[in-house]
Amino acid sequence: MEKRAQWGTRAGFILAAVGSAIGLGNIWRFPATAYENGGGAFFIPYLFALLTAGIPLLVMEFTVGHKFRGSAPLSFFRMNKKTEWLGWWAVLVAFVISTYYAVVIAWAMSYSVFAVNLSWGDDTEGFLFSDYLNLSVDPGQTGSLVPGVFIPLVLVWLVTLGVLFAGVKKGIERANKIFIPTLVVLFLIIVLRAITLPGAAEGLQTFFEPNFESITSGKVWVAAYGQIFFSLSIAFAIMITYSSYLPKKSDITNNAFITGFSNSSFELLAGIGVFGALGFMATQNNVPVEDVVSGGVGLAFVVFPQIINEFPALNGLFGFLFFISLVLAGLSSLISITETYVAAIKEKFGISRAAAVGFGGGLSAVLSILFATQGGLFFLDAADYFINQFGIAFVGLVEVVVIAWFLRNLNSFQSHANGISDLRLGGWWKICLGVITPVVLGYMMFDLFKTNLL
Ligand code: PFF
Ligand code: NA
Repeated sequence: MEKRAQWGTRAGFILAAVGSAIGLGNIWRFPATAYENGGGAFFIPYLFALLTAGIPLLVMEFTVGHKFRGSAPLSFFRMNKKTEWLGWWAVLVAFVISTYYAVVIAWAMSYSVFAVNLSWGDDTEGFLFSDYLNLSVDPGQTGSLVPGVFIPLVLVWLVTLGVLFAGVKKGIERANKIFIPTLVVLFLIIVLRAITLPGAAEGLQTFFEPNFESITSGKVWVAAYGQIFFSLSIAFAIMITYSSYLPKKSDITNNAFITGFSNSSFELLAGIGVFGALGFMATQNNVPVEDVVSGGVGLAFVVFPQIINEFPALNGLFGFLFFISLVLAGLSSLISITETYVAAIKEKFGISRAAAVGFGGGLSAVLSILFATQGGLFFLDAADYFINQFGIAFVGLVEVVVIAWFLRNLNSFQSHANGISDLRLGGWWKICLGVITPVVLGYMMFDLFKTNLL
C-alpha cells in the first residue's frame, strides 16, 4: 500500500490550516456581522463561541483526522462503521461551497485587473451587475456564459487543481507557504492605509461602539456561533482531512489554539481595515458611517471600488492589493475545501490522486460554470444562504452529538490528544463539546426552523 502523504513541517500544517480558515469569511463576513450584532459587545459572544465551541471542535477534528488517518468519510468509518455517512455529508457541503466560492475568487481576480485603471468607473454598482455580470440582459436567461467571469474562473480552477495535483507537501504546503505570508503583508499594508485615511477614526468608533443590550438576544449568539464555524472551516470535513496528513508525533491542541487565534486576529484586523475605509467614505460623502456599512458581495465589489476611487493617491495600486488579497485568501480556502472531496473519493474508490483531482475537481469546476452565467448570482445567493443556514451548524451539531453521546469517544480522544500535545485538555473540553456546544447548536437549529419554516 502506498504510504500516506505527510506535511513536511509543523509550520506547513499550521499555514495550511490557517490558510483554510482565513478566507472571504474574515474579510467580508466578519466586519458587518460584528457591527450588526452589537459592535464592540459582539466580542463577548464571539469569544465565548471561539473558546467553548470553535477551538474545542478544532481539537476534536484534528484528533479524528490524526487518530484515524483518513479523509473525513474514511476517518468516520474507522471510528465506527455506522458513521461513514457523516463524513460524506460534510464532504457534500464542502463540494457545494467550492462550486460558488470559486466564482467569487474569479470575480476578485478580474477586479484586481480592473483596479489598475479603475476601469469600473463611477457607477460601481452598475458596473458589477450590468457590465461585468451582465445581469441586465435578462436574469431569467441563465443559458449564456458571461465571458468576463468564465475566463478567470478557468484560471482559478487551473491553479487549485494544479496545486492539489502536486500533492500534500509539494502542492498544498508549498502554496500556503507562499500565499499566507504574502497575504498577511499585503493586507497589513491595506489596513495601515485605511486607518490613516481621513475619517477612519469615525469608522472605527462606529465599529467598536458597544451595544451591550444586544447580547441578551439569542440572534446575536447564533450569529457569533455561525461566524466561528464558517470562519474556522469547522464541520466542512476540511480540518479532519488536513490533520490526517500529520506525522504520528504532532502537537494537536496547541496547533488548534494557534489556528483559532490566528484566524480571529486576521478577522479583527479585517474589521479595523474595513471600518476605517468605511469611515473615510462616509466622511467624503458627508453621511453617517451607518449609511455605508455593508458586507458580502456588495462590500467587496460595489463599496470597495467606490472607496478606492476616492483614495487620495495610488488608487490603482491599493485597489490591486485589496483584490489580490481576496484572491490569495480565497484560493487557500478553495484548495482546502477541494482537497476534502479529492481525498474522500481517492480513498473510497482506491484511485490515484491525479484521477481524483481530475474527477472530483473537474466535476466541481464544470458545475461552477453555472454561476458564471447571466443568472449565476441568483444561484450563488441561494446556494450560499442554504449552506450557511442549514449546512454547517447542522453537520457540527450531529458530529458532536454522535461523538460525545452515541459513541462516547471524548475520553479516548482526550487521551489521544494529551498523549502528543504540549497543552493538556482538561474536563472543560468535554463539557464544552458534550454539553455547551450541543445545547447552543440545538437552539440554533430550533431557531432556524422556526424562522424559516413556521
Ligand atoms: N474559513 C473560510 C472563510 O472564512 O472564508 C470558509 C471556507 C469557505 C473555507 C470556503 C473553504 C472554502 F472553500
Ligand atoms: Na475564516
